[in-house]
Amino acid sequence: MVRAAGHHPSLRRLRKSRVREYRGGWALVTGAARDVGLGYAFARQLAAEGLNLILVDILDDELAARSAELRTEFGVDVISVPCDMGDPDAIDRIAAATDGAQVDLLVCNHMFTPSDTPRVLDMPLDVHRRMIDINARGYTDLIHRYGNQMRSRGRGSIVIVSSGVGLTSSPFTGAYGANKAFQIGLGEALWFELLGSGVDVLVMVGGLMNTQGDLFDAYPQWLISEPHAVVRRVLSAIGRKHMLVPSLPNRLFLLLQTRLMSRRRAVMSIGQFQAKGLGKS
Ligand SMILES: NC(=O)c1ccc[n+]([C@@H]2O[C@H](COP(=O)([O-])OP(=O)(O)OC[C@H]3O[C@@H](n4cnc5c(N)ncnc54)[C@H](OP(=O)(O)O)[C@@H]3O)[C@@H](O)[C@H]2O)c1
Repeated sequence: MVRAAGHHPSLRRLRKSRVREYRGGWALVTGAARDVGLGYAFARQLAAEGLNLILVDILDDELAARSAELRTEFGVDVISVPCDMGDPDAIDRIAAATDGAQVDLLVCNHMFTPSDTPRVLDMPLDVHRRMIDINARGYTDLIHRYGNQMRSRGRGSIVIVSSGVGLTSSPFTGAYGANKAFQIGLGEALWFELLGSGVDVLVMVGGLMNTQGDLFDAYPQWLISEPHAVVRRVLSAIGRKHMLVPSLPNRLFLLLQTRLMSRRRAVMSIGQFQAKGLGKS
């Protein structure tokens, strides 16, 4: 189920979405450099809605290429900020590069995880620390900076891209699951604390998506969603939901894992599922 880079579905405007109110304003999307990634799918849909974009990613050349594509295709302003979200100065560099642009929509989407999916104790400690820096502190920095600005203005939306493994557990990708659980915990508390402030928070609890080439070939293919379809559901749910599991198979999967099974049984079964999908023994 590999989508060719450069091939994107033609986009329809969203019929109902809070983001329509932000037309002509700015959205900031992290992790937006990969042509087949979810971040770029967010950026494309937002550009189609007429939002200008601040795009952040560690992949410098790809980010410049994506930004140029969006300017040409949609005629919006795009500021690309290549930076490492694991760097504590990243948040100040983004602010400096965007020179006072008022962010109406923040999409925290970037993620670092090693591709060889080591077990918790087999992953070097510096890689654990780097993951926490990028995926936990990096999200916190963005949310703290732009969330405070939005709260002062009484307007804005924050989308936190997490994963179902943050609600269950994920043997063989344990650090990833723990980072995703952090994002969910922060996002749900933020949603509650900002009720009535004019700032919406939506936690996306993603399932498998077609963004990783052939990495998910061993998983049941009906579990895998197309990123552009996920993006449409997420952007339509802002202001209406506090958490969204964008695809039906994943909703059923999570219902089974989090409501119908004991916690221990759920960890056992997801461990076996992961072992099969990732070819671990
Ligand atoms: N794909 C799925 O099945 C799935 C399922 C559930 C949730 N999600 C979540 O959805 C989001 C997007 O996933 P995706 O599949 O589209 O992944 P992706 O294409 O790998 O997107 C993540 C982007 O973040 C970049 N990045 C990594 N480290 C960074 C850093 N230190 N600073 C700034 N940018 C950095 C990545 O660059 P590199 O390529 O160089 O790392 C990549 O361009 C992630 O939060 C992921 O956890 C994905």
